[in-house]
Amino acid sequence: MGNFTVTIRKKARYVDPGLCNACAECAKVCPVVTPDEYQMGLSSRRAIYIPFPQAVPSSYVLDMEHCLGNNPVACGKCAEACEKKAISFDDRDQIVTREVGTVVVAIGAEVYDPTEMDDYGYTRFENVITSMEFERLICAGGPTEGHFVRPSDQRQPKRIGFVQCVGSRNPRMGRPWCSNICCMNTVKDTLLLADHYPDTRSVVFYQDIRAFGKSFEDMFQRSKEAGVRYVRGLPGEIHEDPRTHHLIVTVENTTSGKLERHELDMVVLSVGLQPPADLRKISSLLTLSKTSDGFFMEAHPKLRPVDAPTRGVYFAGMCESPKDIKDSVCQAGAAASRAGALLNAGKVTIEAITSRIDEAACTSCGVCVRVCPFGAIQWTKGTPAVVVEAMCAGCGSCAAQCKPGAITMRHFTDEQIVAQVRATLAQRPEEKVFVFACNWCSYAGADMAGISRMQYPASNRVVRTMCSARVSEEMVLEAFRCGAPVVLVSGCHYADCHYINANRQTVKRVQSMWAKLEKAGVRPERLQLEWISAAEGQKFAKVMRQLDELRRTVTPEEIERSRKAFKPKVRRAAAEAATAAPVPGTAT
Ligand code: FES
Repeated sequence: MGNFTVTIRKKARYVDPGLCNACAECAKVCPVVTPDEYQMGLSSRRAIYIPFPQAVPSSYVLDMEHCLGNNPVACGKCAEACEKKAISFDDRDQIVTREVGTVVVAIGAEVYDPTEMDDYGYTRFENVITSMEFERLICAGGPTEGHFVRPSDQRQPKRIGFVQCVGSRNPRMGRPWCSNICCMNTVKDTLLLADHYPDTRSVVFYQDIRAFGKSFEDMFQRSKEAGVRYVRGLPGEIHEDPRTHHLIVTVENTTSGKLERHELDMVVLSVGLQPPADLRKISSLLTLSKTSDGFFMEAHPKLRPVDAPTRGVYFAGMCESPKDIKDSVCQAGAAASRAGALLNAGKVTIEAITSRIDEAACTSCGVCVRVCPFGAIQWTKGTPAVVVEAMCAGCGSCAAQCKPGAITMRHFTDEQIVAQVRATLAQRPEEKVFVFACNWCSYAGADMAGISRMQYPASNRVVRTMCSARVSEEMVLEAFRCGAPVVLVSGCHYADCHYINANRQTVKRVQSMWAKLEKAGVRPERLQLEWISAAEGQKFAKVMRQLDELRRTVTPEEIERSRKAFKPKVRRAAAEAATAAPVPGTAT
C-alpha cells in the first residue's frame, strides 16, 4: 500500500501532435482503406487517421498494423504530403516507470458480440444490427451523418424492433447478470427515433423493463406515450422474407398469452456487457478477486464499495459491475477521494490482527500461500513462508489450514480459541449448541437477534473469530471431544466475506469434515454450516431454534462416540514458538 511501481507503455503515434495541424492532407494520399472501429465498421478510415472526432489531441496517428511503411517503393506518401514534417516512421513505443501511492482501476467493460446467437441472424441479415451500431447510425458524427438508414438499401426504415437482454440475464449461456444500462438505452433510442422520425413505429421485446434510476420511469412513460409498443416476451428466432427483405419476428406475448408475428424493416439487438478481456491480467497484477460473473469484487458491497480488497487499490466504473454514466461518475469521484484521503494521511495504521509464521516450524508446503486471499504470504519452494504484514488483513485462513501449526494468528491464536471451547463446554456440554461465528456478519447477526429481543433457546454458546475461515478442523474436533452435541460454523454470505473469498476455504474444510465425521461413525449433520448476515437476526434466531431441536435428538451414546472418535493432534504448537518469542499485543 502506498508503494506501487507502475510500468506504462506509451504507444508510438508516428505523428508529432505538436506539429500536426490536422489538415488531413496525409489521409487524402494514404492508399490503405480499413474498417473504422469507432464507427463499428459501418464506414472506413485510412491507415493515418484521427481515432474519433473528439480525440485529444486532435491530431493524426499512424496505424502501423495496416500502414504500408516508410519504404518509398512501398509507400511513404503521407510523409511526403505533410508540409509540417510531423510524420516520423522511426517513432517507437516508450516504457515509462512511475512510483505511485494508490491505483484506481477503471478498465471498463466490453460489449457482447451477438455472432454466437445465430437465432437472431446477426451475421446473416444486414438489417439486424446491435445497439452500438444503432448509436453510430443515428449520431450526427456517424457514418451517415445522423441519417438513420437501413444498411441493406440505405433507405429509412419505418418499422423497427428492439430485442432486449441479448447476452444478459441468460444463465443457459453462462451470462446470468443484468447489464444494467440496456433497458434505458433502448427507451432513449425509441425517444430519439420518435423525435427525429415521427412516422416510424417502434416495438420493444423485453422480459422486464428496469427503469429504477432518477427520472427513468418518467422517460419510460414518455416513450410509451410517443407510441412505442412494449411487448413482454423475447423472440426465439428472427427470419428474413427473401422477397421483401422484411424481418419476421414471432414472439409469445406473455402479458396477453398470444403468439404475435411482427414484420419489421430493421431489428436492433440490445446487447449486454461483459468483463473486459484483460481483466484477468490486471487481476493477477494487483491480486484482485472476481465475482462469479467475472467483474472485479469490491472489498465490501455496502461498506467499501469502491475499495479493492488489496489496500491502496480502488475501482471506478464498469470493471466492478455494469453501470450507467451517472453511477460511473459517482464511483470515480468516490475512488478519487478515497485515494486522496489515503495519500494525504501520510501514514497508515493497520490492525494488529495479522499472521506470523514460525520459520522453524514451517515445512515450506506452500498451502498458506494458496489459501491467502490477499496474496500476503511470500514463499519460494524449499524456504519458510513469510507474511507481509502490511498486506495481511487477518482472516486467519492460513493459520487454520497450516497442518504443522507454524502460523500464529495474533489475538486469535489456536490456544486462545481452544481454551474458549474447553471453558464453554466444561459443564453440561450436552445441553449446549456450540457456535463459531465470524466477527463481521454472524456475530453481528446474533447481536441483532439480541437487541431486537428475538426469542430463541438459550442453549447456544458463541465463540467469535474474525472470519469463518479461521475455524480449523482441530477447533471443531475439540468441541466434539469436549462433548458438544452440535457444532455450528457460521459466516457471511458467500459473496460478502470481508476477506474477499476466504469463506470458500470454510466450505471446503467443512465439507471434508463431514466426510471425516461420517467415516468415524458420527452423524455429519451434527456439524452445521450457515451463512448469517449482520442484518439477519431473525435467521440467527431461527437457526438456533432448529439446532436446539437437533441437539435434543443427539443421544448420550453419540456424544460419547464423538468424544472418543478423534484423538487430539500432536502438533508443533505455535504456542511453543509464541512462548519463545512473545507476540506483541496478544491478549491473554
Ligand atoms: Fe464473515 Fe469471512 S468475514 S465469513
